[in-house]
Amino acid sequence: MFSIKYSAIVLFITAILFNIANGADPNYMLQLVNNERKKINLPALTLDSRLIKAAQNHADYMASIKTLTHDDKSGNVGDRIKAQGYNWSVYGENIAAGQQNEVEAMKSWMNSPPYKQNILGERFKHLGVGYSSNGNYWTQNFAAPI
Ligand SMILES: *[C@@H]1O[C@H](CO)[C@@H](O)[C@H](O)[C@H]1NC(C)=O
Repeated sequence: MFSIKYSAIVLFITAILFNIANGADPNYMLQLVNNERKKINLPALTLDSRLIKAAQNHADYMASIKTLTHDDKSGNVGDRIKAQGYNWSVYGENIAAGQQNEVEAMKSWMNSPPYKQNILGERFKHLGVGYSSNGNYWTQNFAAPI
């Protein structure tokens, strides 16, 4: 009970700080993702601070090179999530550029079969969200622990 309350508070504070720093709201993105999952009776995801960190780093990286990419100098999303201390059994990443807000980013992902498949991934448990206002780069990281 305590830990559920505690992590809700931590997530809430994380979301506020993230929102102030980046102008995007991971809680809102989470809600949009879970709305889609609920339509086909999939369990809701929760935010994970390590996935948020990995996703934010990647949004910043893409903004810095002005390129949509799943790779960076040190590897792919699996490497980025692992580097944040998340031992994954499965992972996925959605990226987009130019969308003005969470709803627009979700719309383009839901129209892209591989990205839609991540949003509706049955094996995922956690979500991370990253955003850079420098070019409006968006990242969603999905994973489940080992
Ligand atoms: C992840 O795995 C490594 C060993 O591969 C271990 O040292 C570490 O404690 C694990 N981290 C978590 C969060 O389980």
